[in-house]
Amino acid sequence: MSVSLCLTGISQKAAGPKLGKDPVSKVVAAMTLQEKASLVVGTGMRMMGMPRRDSTNRNRRGNANQGPEANRPPVLVQGAAGTTYSLPGLGITPMVYTDGPAGVRISPTRPNDDNTYYCTAFPVGTLLASTWDVDLVKKVGQAMGNEVLEYGCDVLLGPGMNIQRNPLCGRNFEYYSEDPYITGNIGAAMVEGVESEGVGTSIKHFDANNAETDRNTLNTIVSERALREIYLEGFRIAVQKAQPWTVMSSYNLINGTYASENHDLLTNVLRKDWGFKGYVMTDWFGGKDPVAQMQAGNDQLMPGNPNQIQAIIDAVNEGKLDEKVLDKNVTRILTGMLMSPRFKGYKYTNKPDLVAHAEVTRKAASEGMILLKNTSSTLPFDKEIKNIAAFGNTSYSIITGGTGSGDVNEAYSVSLIEGLGNAGYKVNGDLNSLYDTYLKLTKEGRPRRRGFMAMMGSGPIDEMSLNNDIINGMAENTDAAIITIGRNSGEGRDRKNVKGDFQLTDQEQQLIKDVTTDYHAKNKKVVVILNIGGPVETASWKDLPDAILLAWQGGQETGNSIADILSGKVDPSGKLAVTFPVKYEDVPSASTFPGKELPTDQQANGPMAAFQRSLPAEVTYNDGIYVGYRYYETFNVKPSYEFGYGLSYTTFDYSNIKLSSTRFSKSLTVTVDVKNTGSVEGKEVAELYITAPAKELDKPVIELKGFAKTRLLQPGESQKLTFTLDSRSLASFDTPSETWVAEAGQYVVKVGASSEDIRQSASFTLSRDIRVKKVTNSLAPKVTIDELKPPVR
Ligand code: BGC
Repeated sequence: MSVSLCLTGISQKAAGPKLGKDPVSKVVAAMTLQEKASLVVGTGMRMMGMPRRDSTNRNRRGNANQGPEANRPPVLVQGAAGTTYSLPGLGITPMVYTDGPAGVRISPTRPNDDNTYYCTAFPVGTLLASTWDVDLVKKVGQAMGNEVLEYGCDVLLGPGMNIQRNPLCGRNFEYYSEDPYITGNIGAAMVEGVESEGVGTSIKHFDANNAETDRNTLNTIVSERALREIYLEGFRIAVQKAQPWTVMSSYNLINGTYASENHDLLTNVLRKDWGFKGYVMTDWFGGKDPVAQMQAGNDQLMPGNPNQIQAIIDAVNEGKLDEKVLDKNVTRILTGMLMSPRFKGYKYTNKPDLVAHAEVTRKAASEGMILLKNTSSTLPFDKEIKNIAAFGNTSYSIITGGTGSGDVNEAYSVSLIEGLGNAGYKVNGDLNSLYDTYLKLTKEGRPRRRGFMAMMGSGPIDEMSLNNDIINGMAENTDAAIITIGRNSGEGRDRKNVKGDFQLTDQEQQLIKDVTTDYHAKNKKVVVILNIGGPVETASWKDLPDAILLAWQGGQETGNSIADILSGKVDPSGKLAVTFPVKYEDVPSASTFPGKELPTDQQANGPMAAFQRSLPAEVTYNDGIYVGYRYYETFNVKPSYEFGYGLSYTTFDYSNIKLSSTRFSKSLTVTVDVKNTGSVEGKEVAELYITAPAKELDKPVIELKGFAKTRLLQPGESQKLTFTLDSRSLASFDTPSETWVAEAGQYVVKVGASSEDIRQSASFTLSRDIRVKKVTNSLAPKVTIDELKPPVR
């Protein structure tokens, strides 16, 4: 009996228990095996070449769909990533899942429909983390959640919470940081914000999915300590603080087992150790074996196909899968469904307040942009600066976010020159026309990407070479210059350490040289704006411009948000949640990223090959726990811009550090006064690091264990910031005993403006070891990993 035939015949029960009216256990008890198996598998996804479906289940020509398509339920929200089956006889409604971290990703237009369904493109994750402001991130989440709700979706497939292990990961822009503490806290705020609208989130990609190359086949070999302290910790914090409705397992294998088939990961760690109460779904087409996935605690397979349903039914019938396991998976999904707007019958409007949300994104973006350099108070621009020359392609063609499933279909985006215009600046028209013509001609000459390739965007356009007369003329006729450098990346591919990607191109270097020479000769200022989703090389050119603003990718209002900072309407208060190394070779994972492909007969030219590679591959995380600043600070490698760094238009003084006690028992409070000592209002991010004794376990020199952002402080105004440390803040993971241990000894609390700009410190002692938490024996690698060992302190 084929599955597709069965699916049309199920769920017709008139009497019997109904979800919502009867306990979930009764509903599960009344379900047939067929019904259970169809609930744990999504309804599929339209791939290239498949007939389109609309709500009448008819194809583009208006004829009823034929074949397997005919039996698939109609699309409920066009362009949403996935849907689940409904079983009306049991009161079970479908659920609609939509990407992604930077906003809702659905089709903006629909056939035979004059309405539009645009969504707000919010700032990318990396920018949101750079705000270090959990309240602000909650507000962004709430606005995003409202669009999920009003466009008829149930769960947002985000936030993305993987650790930025290496600056070249193609999806870093979707992720928050190289540090798990800020990742977990910003992630929890996002979950709370989105879910406050009565819709769900799916924190992803769980776990150790830190590269895109061969992402479906990559075996990540990593020690349990590095997993626990770095790669799992952010997820743990988000789960325990915010209990997201769902978790999305990742594509990769961890120590030999697919994440979605990994019982250690999804049952022992996620549920037993952390107490996760929701359900787990796979990443799209992730993993191989539906039965192993069910057994591991991966409750739902997305986007789903009928073969998976059949495999589950067969396995139960053949005694290979205990139906009780399936009952658990089903119970978890139904428990989540009870909270969903579609189940509750919410009448969505398809009309979220996009104007209000544009304000949210404009403000959030300006709070996460980072002032990297500002010699002689170049910024904010003086009142006399009115005429600006905007150099660089990206000044005219702003990058609002990355590519792939993390991209959003927004109604408009504000370019830099539009933003400058809105702020009252005059952007030089001659230069503008030159760029317009150049960009138009170059774009016309490029092949159009279609299908999956279109999702990846088209690579950067080379900068045109501008002769010195033009630049000189600009220096003569304008008051200041801006040079925008742009980079984009996304799903399915990693970035490269080459010119035009991590490194600047020769033309970009030349442009910076020529523009700064000519403007400086006339005593005029040059500002470089970095419109990027992940670090680029800065050390070789950063001395040249007068100011550098790291704008990240700020969503649809990027141009306005940048102009708000340049004009001084907003004081920059973002700080780096990721290190900018001097050179790529300094990155601790430079020699192992993204991994190595293993000998195989397989060809890399399947249907998806252009979009992503999928050859057997492995990577060994021999950097262990020394990721990001944990490495740079411990191994004395000087970065170009360190973790936690960021300037303001004002200055802050830190004073009066106080500990509630100099002996630690259960918890300890740290207070610090932060005073605005400059002449304009501003906000300061204060970071709390701990230096722990390295007795039995080696430890990074510093680890972030708290952060706080002041309110907007007027000149002369102070605020007392309070941080609380618990025994977990002092603990490291001791693998042999599977226990988080806080070792006895002296601890130094360091509060500062960056990881290298510590302004106040104090110490306390812990008189005896605290065994903070014993966890399950999980995820051990099968081989010994030769991990980095820190220099003796
Ligand atoms: C991505 C996920 C995304 C899913 C659905 C996958 O390719 O890895 O992040 O949520 O597609 O679009």
